[in-house]
Amino acid sequence: MAGMYRSRVSGIGSYLPEKILSNKDLEKMVETNDQWIVERTGIERRHIASEDQATSDLCVIAAKRALEDANLKVEDIDMILVGTVTGDHQMPSTACFVQAKLGAKNIMAVDLNAACSGFLYGVSIADQFIRTGMYKNILVIGAEVLSRYMNYKDRETCILFGDGAGAWVMSRAAEGQTNVIESSHLRADGTLADLLILPSGGSKIPQSHEAIDKGLNFMTMKGRDIFKNAVRTMASCCQEALEHNKVAPEQVDWIVPHQANKRIIEAVADQFKFPMERVIVYLQETGNTSAASIPLAFDWAVKNGKIKRGQTILLTAFGAGLTSGSILLRY
Ligand code: ACO
Repeated sequence: MAGMYRSRVSGIGSYLPEKILSNKDLEKMVETNDQWIVERTGIERRHIASEDQATSDLCVIAAKRALEDANLKVEDIDMILVGTVTGDHQMPSTACFVQAKLGAKNIMAVDLNAACSGFLYGVSIADQFIRTGMYKNILVIGAEVLSRYMNYKDRETCILFGDGAGAWVMSRAAEGQTNVIESSHLRADGTLADLLILPSGGSKIPQSHEAIDKGLNFMTMKGRDIFKNAVRTMASCCQEALEHNKVAPEQVDWIVPHQANKRIIEAVADQFKFPMERVIVYLQETGNTSAASIPLAFDWAVKNGKIKRGQTILLTAFGAGLTSGSILLRY
């Protein structure tokens, strides 16, 4: 009956490209140094897709791993959502390429452009489709090839970002199952859209030689403003999740925040007096992988024996838009 169902995470998987770009490598490209990057961001290296890999290729590897973990076949999937701002093409959706490469037939497939909050937006939408009874198994992927939009002469952005993909299979929970998505609280504040933007290539500034000469085809960012906003919005989205579920910070086993900057993560944890020992930090290995960051960090934490089934997990993200959000779940 409609409205009766809950969703759970039935499988997880992720993929990081083999090629590594270390802080030492970046020292040879821009005026920066390993110590500055580690102290200001916590990032030590990031992974870079090979020339023949597009975002959908990263998605497919992560998705196959998640399907295997869920013990499900492609035929069992009812919908594919891909959170990405670096899709294979401007159109169509990268989710459609993923659908074709996986061999999934006659199901809905679409991209979500919510930048670093894209995975949480996807999980929330999947949760709604499962709650209503419309679908049983949904593939939610967060994936980016941000390296294609980086200006490797701009030290303020190129040190931060990396490529990767993470995927969850979300499934209808059996009756009485308590390992479910409890809540999602998502936001956007479009008045701050200019703080982090890829200016050209859309209808406002179509791609042109002139746009490229001006460097408008690269991501630009006002780092300090983003930093302040990130701390404020993630803390307030987490607070909303805790109050809504009547859960105290001590009852949360792990926070898995968007992996942008270790200092942002520490500042958010500090707002709740939440110990860093229970916060998942994986950005030293990945840099900021936008929509891929949370499922990548989550998968790593599970594979390394940190996050376990039955635990209470708080996910939180912020990103271009500016978007933000939190999801509380029992894994
Ligand atoms: N190496 C060495 N020095 C640098 C570098 C670098 N890579 N980058 C900047 N600097 C210099 C600056 O020029 C500045 O020099 P000055 O004092 O002589 O002017 C100095 O370091 C300090 O610069 P700040 O910008 O104040 O450094 P800050 O401590 O704020 O760190 C950073 C900058 C890391 C970008 C930080 O502001 C940040 O992480 N902001 C959030 C960015 C973010 O998360 N973006 C992603 C959003 S999510 C999404 O949707 C994609």
